[in-house]
Amino acid sequence: MQSENPIGVFDSGYGGLTVLKEVVNKLPQYDYIYLGDNARTPYGNRSFDTVYHYTLQCVKWFFDKGCKLVILACNTASAKALRTIQQNDLPKIAPDRRVLGVIRPTAEIIGNFSDTKSIGVLATPGTVASDSYPMEIGKFFPELKVYQEACNMWVPLIENNEHLNHGADYFIKKHIHNILGKGKDIDVLLLGCTHYPLLIDKIKEYLPVSVKLISQGQIVADSLADYLHRHPEIETACSKGSRTEFFTTDSSTDFDNHAKMFYGTEIISKHIDLQ
Ligand code: DGL
Repeated sequence: MQSENPIGVFDSGYGGLTVLKEVVNKLPQYDYIYLGDNARTPYGNRSFDTVYHYTLQCVKWFFDKGCKLVILACNTASAKALRTIQQNDLPKIAPDRRVLGVIRPTAEIIGNFSDTKSIGVLATPGTVASDSYPMEIGKFFPELKVYQEACNMWVPLIENNEHLNHGADYFIKKHIHNILGKGKDIDVLLLGCTHYPLLIDKIKEYLPVSVKLISQGQIVADSLADYLHRHPEIETACSKGSRTEFFTTDSSTDFDNHAKMFYGTEIISKHIDLQ
Protein backbone atom coordinates (compact mmCIF):
# COMPACT_ATOMS: atom_id res chain seq x y z
CA MET A 1 0.00 0.00 0.00
CA GLN A 2 1.32 3.42 -0.90
CA SER A 3 1.73 5.98 1.90
CA GLU A 4 -0.39 9.11 1.47
CA ASN A 5 1.81 11.82 2.89
CA PRO A 6 5.23 10.40 3.63
CA ILE A 7 8.22 12.48 4.64
CA GLY A 8 10.57 12.68 1.66
CA VAL A 9 14.29 12.10 2.15
CA PHE A 10 16.55 12.97 -0.76
CA ASP A 11 20.17 12.37 -1.65
CA SER A 12 22.24 12.37 -4.82
CA GLY A 13 22.83 8.65 -4.21
CA TYR A 14 23.22 6.41 -1.20
CA GLY A 15 24.58 8.85 1.38
CA GLY A 16 21.20 10.07 2.63
CA LEU A 17 20.47 6.53 3.82
CA THR A 18 22.85 7.18 6.73
CA VAL A 19 20.55 10.04 7.71
CA LEU A 20 17.29 8.21 7.01
CA LYS A 21 18.42 5.33 9.25
CA GLU A 22 18.75 7.69 12.24
CA VAL A 23 15.53 9.54 11.40
CA VAL A 24 13.50 6.32 11.24
CA ASN A 25 15.07 5.15 14.52
CA LYS A 26 14.12 8.37 16.23
CA LEU A 27 10.70 8.86 14.61
CA PRO A 28 9.45 5.41 13.57
CA GLN A 29 5.78 6.40 13.53
CA TYR A 30 5.93 8.34 10.24
CA ASP A 31 5.90 7.13 6.63
CA TYR A 32 9.02 7.89 4.58
CA ILE A 33 10.08 7.75 0.97
CA TYR A 34 13.70 7.91 -0.02
CA LEU A 35 14.95 8.94 -3.43
CA GLY A 36 18.55 8.51 -4.54
CA ASP A 37 19.44 10.24 -7.79
CA ASN A 38 22.04 7.56 -8.48
CA ALA A 39 21.86 8.04 -12.25
CA ARG A 40 23.35 11.52 -11.84
CA THR A 41 25.54 11.11 -8.78
CA PRO A 42 27.94 12.52 -7.68
CA TYR A 43 26.62 16.06 -7.29
CA GLY A 44 29.73 17.23 -5.46
CA ASN A 45 31.67 18.29 -8.54
CA ARG A 46 28.74 19.83 -10.44
CA SER A 47 27.86 23.48 -10.97
CA PHE A 48 25.36 25.43 -8.89
CA ASP A 49 22.84 25.48 -11.76
CA THR A 50 23.06 21.74 -12.38
CA VAL A 51 22.67 20.80 -8.70
CA TYR A 52 19.77 23.23 -8.37
CA HIS A 53 18.04 21.91 -11.49
CA TYR A 54 18.43 18.23 -10.47
CA THR A 55 17.37 18.87 -6.88
CA LEU A 56 14.29 20.87 -7.85
CA GLN A 57 13.23 18.14 -10.23
CA CYS A 58 13.49 15.59 -7.41
CA VAL A 59 11.64 17.85 -4.96
CA LYS A 60 8.76 18.13 -7.44
CA TRP A 61 8.72 14.34 -7.71
CA PHE A 62 8.38 14.11 -3.90
CA PHE A 63 5.50 16.59 -4.01
CA ASP A 64 3.77 14.45 -6.66
CA LYS A 65 4.12 11.52 -4.26
CA GLY A 66 2.22 13.51 -1.62
CA CYS A 67 5.09 14.69 0.58
CA LYS A 68 4.34 17.77 2.67
CA LEU A 69 7.88 17.79 3.99
CA VAL A 70 11.10 16.95 2.16
CA ILE A 71 14.55 16.70 3.76
CA LEU A 72 17.53 17.26 1.49
CA ALA A 73 19.79 14.71 3.21
CA CYS A 74 22.63 15.79 0.97
CA ASN A 75 25.01 18.57 1.93
CA THR A 76 25.76 19.46 -1.66
CA ALA A 77 22.08 19.91 -2.52
CA SER A 78 21.50 21.73 0.78
CA ALA A 79 24.42 24.05 0.01
CA LYS A 80 23.61 24.78 -3.61
CA ALA A 81 19.87 24.37 -4.11
CA LEU A 82 17.98 24.68 -0.82
CA ARG A 83 17.87 28.44 -0.43
CA THR A 84 16.68 29.07 -4.00
CA ILE A 85 14.05 26.37 -3.71
CA GLN A 86 12.82 27.76 -0.38
CA GLN A 87 12.80 31.38 -1.46
CA ASN A 88 11.91 31.28 -5.17
CA ASP A 89 10.21 28.00 -5.98
CA LEU A 90 8.15 26.99 -2.96
CA PRO A 91 6.07 30.18 -2.82
CA LYS A 92 5.04 29.54 -6.44
CA ILE A 93 4.67 25.77 -6.64
CA ALA A 94 3.79 24.63 -3.11
CA PRO A 95 3.43 27.36 -0.49
CA ASP A 96 2.05 24.92 2.08
CA ARG A 97 4.93 22.44 1.79
CA ARG A 98 8.40 22.56 3.32
CA VAL A 99 11.89 21.62 2.20
CA LEU A 100 14.64 21.43 4.83
CA GLY A 101 18.37 20.76 4.58
CA VAL A 102 21.12 19.29 6.72
CA ILE A 103 23.54 22.21 6.99
CA ARG A 104 21.60 24.50 9.29
CA PRO A 105 20.75 21.88 11.96
CA THR A 106 24.41 20.89 11.99
CA ALA A 107 25.60 24.50 12.18
CA GLU A 108 23.26 25.16 15.10
CA ILE A 109 25.05 22.75 17.43
CA ILE A 110 28.50 21.93 16.05
CA GLY A 111 30.23 24.59 18.17
CA ASN A 112 29.09 22.85 21.35
CA PHE A 113 31.44 19.95 20.67
CA SER A 114 34.61 22.06 20.53
CA ASP A 115 36.72 23.18 23.50
CA THR A 116 39.41 24.87 21.39
CA LYS A 117 36.76 26.75 19.34
CA SER A 118 38.38 25.48 16.20
CA ILE A 119 36.73 22.91 13.93
CA GLY A 120 37.32 21.29 10.58
CA VAL A 121 34.67 20.51 7.96
CA LEU A 122 35.28 17.67 5.52
CA ALA A 123 32.92 17.91 2.54
CA THR A 124 32.53 17.68 -1.22
CA PRO A 125 34.15 20.33 -3.45
CA GLY A 126 30.68 21.81 -4.09
CA THR A 127 29.82 22.18 -0.42
CA VAL A 128 33.22 23.68 0.37
CA ALA A 129 33.08 26.13 -2.55
CA SER A 130 29.64 27.33 -1.47
CA ASP A 131 31.05 28.42 1.93
CA SER A 132 27.72 27.40 3.45
CA TYR A 133 29.25 25.88 6.56
CA PRO A 134 31.44 28.83 7.59
CA MET A 135 28.52 31.21 6.91
CA GLU A 136 25.87 29.20 8.76
CA ILE A 137 28.14 28.29 11.67
CA GLY A 138 29.15 31.95 11.97
CA LYS A 139 25.51 32.85 12.73
CA PHE A 140 25.42 30.58 15.79
CA PHE A 141 29.07 30.50 16.90
CA PRO A 142 30.74 33.71 15.68
CA GLU A 143 33.86 33.00 17.74
CA LEU A 144 34.44 29.58 16.13
CA LYS A 145 37.27 29.13 13.62
CA VAL A 146 36.06 26.94 10.75
CA TYR A 147 38.53 25.26 8.39
CA GLN A 148 37.36 23.35 5.33
CA GLU A 149 38.78 20.58 3.19
CA ALA A 150 37.27 19.35 -0.08
CA CYS A 151 37.65 15.58 -0.28
CA ASN A 152 37.02 15.17 -3.97
CA MET A 153 37.65 11.43 -4.25
CA TRP A 154 35.80 10.21 -1.18
CA VAL A 155 32.28 10.00 -2.67
CA PRO A 156 33.42 8.30 -5.90
CA LEU A 157 35.40 5.77 -3.82
CA ILE A 158 32.34 5.00 -1.70
CA GLU A 159 29.90 4.91 -4.63
CA ASN A 160 32.22 2.43 -6.34
CA ASN A 161 32.65 0.34 -3.19
CA GLU A 162 36.40 0.93 -3.19
CA HIS A 163 36.50 2.82 0.09
CA LEU A 164 37.61 -0.06 2.31
CA ASN A 165 40.34 -1.21 -0.05
CA HIS A 166 43.98 -0.36 0.43
CA GLY A 167 44.08 2.28 -2.32
CA ALA A 168 41.53 4.41 -0.46
CA ASP A 169 43.98 5.00 2.40
CA TYR A 170 46.01 7.40 0.29
CA PHE A 171 43.04 9.72 -0.17
CA ILE A 172 41.85 9.45 3.43
CA LYS A 173 45.27 10.19 4.85
CA LYS A 174 45.87 13.08 2.45
CA HIS A 175 42.73 15.02 3.41
CA ILE A 176 43.03 14.36 7.14
CA HIS A 177 46.63 15.56 6.99
CA ASN A 178 45.58 18.66 5.00
CA ILE A 179 42.80 19.74 7.34
CA LEU A 180 44.82 19.21 10.50
CA GLY A 181 47.60 21.24 8.87
CA LYS A 182 45.19 24.13 8.20
CA GLY A 183 44.02 24.45 11.80
CA LYS A 184 46.55 23.22 14.33
CA ASP A 185 44.14 23.43 17.27
CA ILE A 186 41.19 21.67 15.59
CA ASP A 187 39.50 19.38 18.12
CA VAL A 188 36.33 18.56 16.12
CA LEU A 189 36.03 17.24 12.59
CA LEU A 190 32.60 17.36 10.99
CA LEU A 191 31.76 14.83 8.31
CA GLY A 192 29.92 17.35 6.14
CA CYS A 193 28.82 14.81 3.56
CA THR A 194 26.30 12.08 4.22
CA HIS A 195 28.47 9.49 2.52
CA TYR A 196 31.41 9.94 4.86
CA PRO A 197 30.16 7.94 7.89
CA LEU A 198 31.16 4.86 5.88
CA LEU A 199 34.75 6.01 6.21
CA ILE A 200 34.73 6.50 9.98
CA ASP A 201 36.92 3.51 10.82
CA LYS A 202 39.53 4.43 8.24
CA ILE A 203 39.51 8.12 9.17
CA LYS A 204 40.09 7.22 12.82
CA GLU A 205 43.28 5.41 11.84
CA TYR A 206 44.76 8.76 10.78
CA LEU A 207 43.24 10.97 13.46
CA PRO A 208 44.67 11.81 16.90
CA VAL A 209 42.32 10.42 19.57
CA SER A 210 41.87 13.94 20.93
CA VAL A 211 39.92 14.98 17.78
CA LYS A 212 36.19 14.23 17.87
CA LEU A 213 34.54 13.00 14.70
CA ILE A 214 30.96 14.16 14.22
CA SER A 215 28.52 12.76 11.65
CA GLN A 216 25.11 14.21 10.90
CA GLY A 217 22.52 11.43 11.11
CA GLN A 218 21.68 11.86 14.78
CA ILE A 219 21.86 15.66 14.56
CA VAL A 220 19.37 15.75 11.68
CA ALA A 221 17.04 13.26 13.39
CA ASP A 222 16.98 15.33 16.62
CA SER A 223 16.44 18.52 14.65
CA LEU A 224 13.57 17.00 12.66
CA ALA A 225 11.86 15.84 15.87
CA ASP A 226 12.15 19.36 17.20
CA TYR A 227 10.89 20.89 13.93
CA LEU A 228 7.80 18.65 13.87
CA HIS A 229 7.11 19.52 17.50
CA ARG A 230 7.25 23.25 16.69
CA HIS A 231 5.20 22.96 13.47
CA PRO A 232 1.99 21.06 14.22
CA GLU A 233 0.50 22.12 10.87
CA ILE A 234 3.22 20.11 9.09
CA GLU A 235 3.34 17.31 11.68
CA THR A 236 -0.37 16.55 11.37
CA ALA A 237 -0.09 16.52 7.56
CA CYS A 238 2.53 13.72 7.63
CA SER A 239 1.00 10.23 7.49
CA LYS A 240 1.82 7.79 10.26
CA GLY A 241 1.95 4.18 9.11
CA SER A 242 5.61 3.32 9.83
CA ARG A 243 6.25 2.47 6.17
CA THR A 244 9.44 3.28 4.28
CA GLU A 245 9.76 3.05 0.49
CA PHE A 246 12.92 3.43 -1.57
CA PHE A 247 13.35 4.78 -5.09
CA THR A 248 16.35 5.30 -7.32
CA THR A 249 16.85 6.96 -10.68
CA ASP A 250 19.33 4.22 -11.65
CA SER A 251 19.16 0.42 -11.52
CA SER A 252 17.14 -0.84 -8.57
CA THR A 253 19.18 -4.05 -8.49
CA ASP A 254 22.39 -2.06 -8.06
CA PHE A 255 20.72 0.11 -5.45
CA ASP A 256 19.56 -2.88 -3.42
CA ASN A 257 23.02 -4.46 -3.58
CA HIS A 258 24.77 -1.30 -2.35
CA ALA A 259 22.20 0.20 -0.03
CA LYS A 260 22.58 -2.27 2.82
CA MET A 261 26.07 -0.94 3.43
CA PHE A 262 24.59 2.51 4.18
CA TYR A 263 21.27 1.55 5.77
CA GLY A 264 22.26 -1.54 7.71
CA THR A 265 19.34 -3.73 6.57
CA GLU A 266 18.15 -5.15 3.25
CA ILE A 267 16.35 -2.71 0.97
CA ILE A 268 14.05 -3.33 -1.97
CA SER A 269 13.84 -0.27 -4.18
CA LYS A 270 11.94 0.77 -7.27
CA HIS A 271 13.34 2.51 -10.30
CA ILE A 272 11.93 5.85 -11.49
CA ASP A 273 12.63 7.93 -14.58
CA LEU A 274 12.86 11.67 -14.13
CA GLN A 275 12.01 13.59 -17.27
N1 DGL B 1 26.14 12.81 -0.04
C1 DGL B 1 26.20 14.10 -0.62
C2 DGL B 1 26.53 15.15 0.42
O1 DGL B 1 26.20 15.00 1.54
C3 DGL B 1 27.09 14.33 -1.77
C4 DGL B 1 27.46 13.26 -2.66
C5 DGL B 1 27.70 13.74 -4.03
O2 DGL B 1 28.74 14.33 -4.31
O3 DGL B 1 26.79 13.52 -4.83
O4 DGL B 1 27.14 16.15 0.14
